[in-house]
Parts: sequence; structure tokens; C-alpha cells
Amino acid sequence: MTGGLGFIGSNFIRQLVKSRPKWAIVNLDKQTYAGNPANLDGINIKTVKKDICDAKAVDAAMKGCDYVVHFAAETHVDRSILDAGAFLKTNILGTQVLLDAALRHKVKRFLHVSTDEVYGSIPRGYSKEGDHLEPNSPYAASKAASDLLVRSYFVTHKAPVLTTRASNNYGPFQYPEKALPLMITNFMEDKPFPQYGDGKQVRDWLHVRDHARAILTVLEKGTIGEIYNIGGSYTCQNRELIQKVLGLMKKPKGLVTRVEDRKGHDRRYALDCKKLLKIGFRHEYDFERGLAQTIAWYMNHESWWRPLKVAGGYRAYVKKAYKK
Ligand code: NAD
Ligand code: TYD
Repeated sequence: MTGGLGFIGSNFIRQLVKSRPKWAIVNLDKQTYAGNPANLDGINIKTVKKDICDAKAVDAAMKGCDYVVHFAAETHVDRSILDAGAFLKTNILGTQVLLDAALRHKVKRFLHVSTDEVYGSIPRGYSKEGDHLEPNSPYAASKAASDLLVRSYFVTHKAPVLTTRASNNYGPFQYPEKALPLMITNFMEDKPFPQYGDGKQVRDWLHVRDHARAILTVLEKGTIGEIYNIGGSYTCQNRELIQKVLGLMKKPKGLVTRVEDRKGHDRRYALDCKKLLKIGFRHEYDFERGLAQTIAWYMNHESWWRPLKVAGGYRAYVKKAYKK
């Protein structure tokens, strides 16, 4: 697998070592700012600290692998607005390097982890796997490009690929630049959350452990060449989410600062997941329980997130991204 030091990859590994104890796992991860060895504390697997764009390293790491699960990516929309270069390199060219290696090594299944953001903003209804792609941020465009590349390897080379498109994840080990961990950790410090614009944007919230279980379901039961949406169990506007978290944390309602809206900000995402349900997946987390547990996790793991927030690179990013 790739990207196992990140948020979703590390949760996937934690689940896999328990549910598939006989599988040997090789984790290829460059350890960017978002890759954190502490996410795998106490887990004994092999991590190769290399770039997915490095064909030689990918070739060596993939030797003998039956399955590839590809998480590694640049993932933060706001960073892609400031500088898209690394997004195109890792998310598109890195995926191509992995696909070529997968063909050479004749892997049995290659699962490409993608996002609902490739569909773009939908004012009503639910995005289906066959809908056309209308990515609006450089991040979403780079993921859409990688999805199309994966599709082309299926059509051209009969590569044994599967693609999943998930909605917004939440849960333990999420880097605190993303909305929910930023919100919870700011509130712990009695600092306001910077709400972009009117806060009426809608997101579809998926617990990371449900996401990890859904990926395993698709890996084992999905049909080669197909795409599977993985949505959450709850959609809401950002301003509602902020008030919910403030309430659960017993903080004042006014601990919010309205800041300039994100450029090209998608108003609404929502996924149709019937195809995933058809292959047997069921959610375990309802949002109320998942959110309360997530808040408790960040409150109990200050030693995990505090060093990330005080690091020079994080502070420089925040200064640049929130200057207005
Ligand atoms: P993350 O930013 O927390 O972690 C990304 C990981 O990839 C890090 O460990 C990083 O070191 C590694 N990485 C980055 N560039 C690399 C490179 N060139 N070579 C090797 N490793 C590299 O990301 P995440 O939130 O865990 O997301 C994982 C995947 O899931 C991504 O493909 C993302 O597009 C997708 N996804 C995320 C969400 C979400 O809500 N976070 C939702 C849907 C889909
Ligand atoms: P984010 O976690 O960045 O995920 P995505 O952009 O991939 O959906 O943001 C979730 C929502 O929260 C999104 O509508 C943007 C909004 N947001 C804010 O209002 N303020 C913030 O500081 C951040 C990081 C996000």
C-alpha cells in the first residue's frame, strides 16, 4: 500500500493487522508534512520511505505483492490553491508509476483511492459512479485525472483496477489543517474556528473506520474495472457542524470567525452508495456517536496533535492561507 503514514492509510493499516492478521503489508510513503510515523505507533509493519514517483523504489516495494491499495496523495484543497505543482506530480504521475509497476508485477488487484470531489459541486441529489466529472479545485482536478488514467489502464492494458470515491472523512489521526481536527483543537485552546464565507456549504461525513472497512470490501468483493462511491451516514452545512461541535465541547456559540471564502469553494457534495451496499457493506458509525468519540480522541491525544500545530511549517502555512 501507499500513503500508510497519512490519516486514512494509517487507520486502514490498523484495521488490517487485526482483521487480516496473515497478510504481509509493505507501506510505501514519502513522509511528507502529512505523513506521520506516530500514526502507526505500536504497529509492526515494513515502511519504505520513498516517493511514489520514484519508479525504481516502487518496483522494489511492489515485488511479490498480490494487492496494491493506493492512498498516497497531496490532499488539502487549500494548499492546492496556493501551489498546484506537487498535486499534479504525486497524484497524477505517481499514479502512473504505480500502474506501470502493477502491470509488470502482475498484481491481482489494484485499488485506487479517490474522492467525491471529482464530481464537483451538486446543488441537489446524489452523485452516482457514472456521472460526468467536473472537478473545481486543482486538488480535485488532479484526482479526476488519476481516476481517468486508472480507467485507461483498464481499457488499454486490462489492468485489474478498482476505484473508490469517498466523501469527507473524520476520525483519529487527521492532520489538523482539515476542518474537523482544526475545529476541535482550536476549541480546546478557546480559539475560534475560521468559517469560510456563509458556512452554508454541505459535506457528507464518513467515519474513517467505515471508510477503511469499505475499502477492504471493495478490494475483496468489487468487480474489476468498476468504481464504487463510499459516502457517509450524515450530511450537513458547515455552520451546523460548527455549532454541533461547540455544543458537544460546551464552548460558547460565538467561537467562530467568518473569514474570506475559499476560491472556487464547492457548495455541496453528496454520494449515492447503492452500488457499495449491493456488495455487502454496511456502516458501523452513526455521526452522533462517531463525532463524540472523535472529539474525545483529540481531547485525549493532545501529545499527538500539539507538536504538529506548533511546527514551523504548519505555522507558516496557516499564516499564508489565512492572511485575509
Ligand atoms: P493525508 O494527507 O493524511 O496522507 C497522505 C499520505 O501520502 C501521507 O502519509 C504522505 O506522506 C503520503 N504521500 C504524499 N505524497 C507522496 C509521494 N509522492 N510518495 C509517497 N507518499 C506520499 O491523506 P488522507 O486524508 O489520508 O487521504 C488518503 C487518500 O484518500 C488520498 O488519495 C485522498 O485523495 C483520498 N481521500 C481523502 C478524503 C479525506 O476526507 N481525507 C476523502 C476522500 C478521499
Ligand atoms: P476540508 O476539511 O478542507 O475538506 P474539503 O475541502 O475537502 O471538503 O473542509 C471541509 C469544509 O470546511 C469545506 O467546506 C471547507 C470548510 N472549511 C472552513 O470553513 N474553514 C477552514 O479553515 C477549513 C480548513 C475548511
